[in-house]
Amino acid sequence: MSIVVETPAWALPRDQSVRARAAAVVPGGMYGHMTANAQNMPPSFPQFYDRGAGAYTWDVDGHRYVDFLCAFGPVLLGHRHERVEAAVAAQAERGDTLSGPSERMVDLAELLTETVAHADWAMFAKNGTDATSAAVRVARAATGKRKLLKASVAYHGANDWFTPRTAGVTAEDRLNIVEFAYNDVASLLEAVAEHTGDIAAIIVTPFRHDAFVEQELATAEFARAVREAATREGAALILDEVRTALRLDVRGAWEHLGVRPDLTAFSKALANGHPVSALVGVDALRSAAAEVYVTGSFWFSAVPMAAAIATIQEAVEIDAPAVIGRAGSRFKDGLEAAGRAAGFEVALTGPVQMPMLNFADDRDKKLAFAFTDAALRHGVLLHPWHNMFVSAAHDDAVVDEAIAGVVAAFREIARTA
Ligand SMILES: Cc1ncc(COP(=O)(O)O)c(C=O)c1O
Repeated sequence: MSIVVETPAWALPRDQSVRARAAAVVPGGMYGHMTANAQNMPPSFPQFYDRGAGAYTWDVDGHRYVDFLCAFGPVLLGHRHERVEAAVAAQAERGDTLSGPSERMVDLAELLTETVAHADWAMFAKNGTDATSAAVRVARAATGKRKLLKASVAYHGANDWFTPRTAGVTAEDRLNIVEFAYNDVASLLEAVAEHTGDIAAIIVTPFRHDAFVEQELATAEFARAVREAATREGAALILDEVRTALRLDVRGAWEHLGVRPDLTAFSKALANGHPVSALVGVDALRSAAAEVYVTGSFWFSAVPMAAAIATIQEAVEIDAPAVIGRAGSRFKDGLEAAGRAAGFEVALTGPVQMPMLNFADDRDKKLAFAFTDAALRHGVLLHPWHNMFVSAAHDDAVVDEAIAGVVAAFREIARTA
């Protein structure tokens, strides 16, 4: 068996013309968002999308795809979910950005403190970066300490100390960041020992979901070591659930390990695509959270909060992690079997709700690029180097349609020698 990795890209005339317009008026034609930037993707990938409905999305050239990107996480229940959009419309009728918060802020805080096991309070912002940055500020205000321990490579946002790109950032901005290796207790303890007495917080994601590498679940030993180290140091344990919100466990992603953080940052799926993020925390950090200055002109908007309430209620009622888990397992089994049948050693790694595509011996991602490129032409939107997302709208029929698409894509990139 030999592998043909050069497959013909298809034409995206409208996408090309919008890209040309963007190049003239938007820096680089696309700022940030490396994961959705078509420059970093195989040639058939669209840059611009027109709409979404349920488990499907359409590019500006009118191609329909089964969407396994789900806006990189925000779409939990399916695009334009009826219950969420009804809540949005009802709140929009009354007003969105008012001269103070609406009652929805309190409703949402009550719902989150009822739902998330460790949460005694909640405050809100827009993006994940807002929530992780606020978490760090609360931790520093509470402890009077400076250092922030994080896993190397782990993404926690786009601010001056978390950004993965250093353009425009000074070394001083990152002075208080200390890195350890995810799932490596010895490396964590070494970092703690080196900065003992000056550690404000340890921030960690529920599992390792770095781009380009296989995903890795947190070991119970690692999660407990993080908890113990934070407690011993009097530092805050911040769980960064920006990406995992509502997909793994609505009570908190480390509940199954018996490990509770002091602060959790949520965003992305919290409002099924509407812009709101949340920082929740324990009572011991309540007064520090009341003291820090974190705000924004749109942080009290009522419509996204109404969307979040409907999303969380629906996620709890249908048990979204289980529903999405079943869909994710069906897709994983189907894709891996299709790959094997076509002669490829391929796996979807990590939680089935947020799988990462991984071909064996494919360090340069040549196979992943060829396969995801071909999958587009068979109606399936996948990602070659970032984790993907399954939604509750991916029912059996949709998943089977996607599996038929990936069977055809594998056939397209494989030929018998
Ligand atoms: C784990 C994690 N933390 C923080 C962020 C930052 O969130 P946002 O892009 O909404 O600022 C992201 C975004 O992808 C993320 O995945």
